[in-house]
Amino acid sequence: MGQTMGIALAHKSSTTRNLKMIEISPLRQTTIRVMAVASDASLIETIRLHLTDRFPIELVQTLQTGRQCLSVIGDVDPNVVLIADGIEDINFLQLVRQICALHPAVAPVVLSQADDLSSYHDLMSAGARGAIKIANSAQGWIVSGEELDLRIHQAFELVRSVKERLARGARKPATTLGREIITVYSPKGGVGKSAFAVGLALLLAQQDAKRKVALVDLNLQFGIDSVYLNLQPHHSISDLVANVDSLNSSTLESLVSKKVLDGGCELAFISAPANARQADDIVGQNVAGVFQALRRYFDVTVVDTTATISDVTLAALQAASRILLVCSQDMLAIRQTRAALELLRDPEFAIDMGAISLVLNRINSYSEIKPESIESLFELPCLGRIPEHNAFFETEVNVGNLPSALADSNPVVKAWKGILAGLKFEKPLRQNPERL
Ligand SMILES: Nc1ncnc2c1ncn2[C@@H]1O[C@H](COP(=O)(O)OP(=O)(O)OP(=O)(O)O)[C@@H](O)[C@H]1O
Ligand SMILES: [Mg+2]
Repeated sequence: MGQTMGIALAHKSSTTRNLKMIEISPLRQTTIRVMAVASDASLIETIRLHLTDRFPIELVQTLQTGRQCLSVIGDVDPNVVLIADGIEDINFLQLVRQICALHPAVAPVVLSQADDLSSYHDLMSAGARGAIKIANSAQGWIVSGEELDLRIHQAFELVRSVKERLARGARKPATTLGREIITVYSPKGGVGKSAFAVGLALLLAQQDAKRKVALVDLNLQFGIDSVYLNLQPHHSISDLVANVDSLNSSTLESLVSKKVLDGGCELAFISAPANARQADDIVGQNVAGVFQALRRYFDVTVVDTTATISDVTLAALQAASRILLVCSQDMLAIRQTRAALELLRDPEFAIDMGAISLVLNRINSYSEIKPESIESLFELPCLGRIPEHNAFFETEVNVGNLPSALADSNPVVKAWKGILAGLKFEKPLRQNPERL
């Protein structure tokens, strides 16, 4: 290994580009890999100039948008990401939050023109591992090379042990920690998203009393999951949004509603706002912050969405470790599902298309469209077919009896259980997430 490093260093002194080309694993232990994200190309250039010949710091990637950063960060594998405030496509605090949630061994350091204490507090509570004051003058950007050097080293030290633990396999990537976010989505209204999301969340909570499960009703204007649960929530997602930066286990405990099931199992419920007008105050970045907080406390969070692809729905799709795309057995649903898949494939949305599975709902034998034709059309893994069963939905589900109807040997409940089995959950870790 020593010999390999020697060769690498010799290359480094001649040209930084050569160093990148001979990137091999022993070298990766010795350099601090830095990625820089700033919408202003001249700021990136200033950073590049400062970081040239500052071994062991190596500027491995520069990008101008937050979404590009999120889509390549896993492959680039930096130790530190420098994020300049003022990124245009995504709020930079949100970017910091997402990096912390999805890449715990990466240290975000913010370059900010703000110098007031409250901004600093916001940065640190979002998960930034350092902040550097920058200024824009007529002569160009003012950034201290020494401060950059110092903050990068400090941030690297803060995440070094996380990286080592991950490398030793002590921690697995986020999706296998048992901290799942399952987003139930369909671009078509009325296909059965909500009933399925509620049924799935209830079964998940019932299956393992130690598993912490939450259900979020993201149909912010007209959410009805509380009706399916037969629950009158005293708080809603608006309360979580208002307190997201100071949430701890006791505040969270007081802000979520609980559905207690037979046998003492509990499902935590985060309802849509009580008043449809309050929905307008909630934007995608609020919702992303709520998911990040929930991920710390719940093994599984099931998210019920609406058909509209808004910034709120996108936040749920981006945060998802699994996306269950519900499609019913009719031409309109199939067409809309196809169109939505086309749209979501756009890399700008930064959605993990590999996380999507299909769930067919309201399947009956008299339709001319056969379920196997729908499955082969989408070329997605299909987790199950839920039969159409009007009597069950009218007499049990729609009148709030679902929690007690789960014990029935009903074909719908059977199909839900089959889907749950197909999700193959890891056993939840007991030390992590933080317990409520
Ligand atoms: N498998 C099924 N068989 C019969 N009825 C069903 C089935 N699944 C759902 N339903 C019924 O279809 C209606 C719409 O269901 P649901 O509210 O879950 O749809 P949704 O996709 O969430 O709608 P929205 O887009 O408005 O939020 C409800 O009355 C529900 O009970
Ligand atoms: Mg719904």
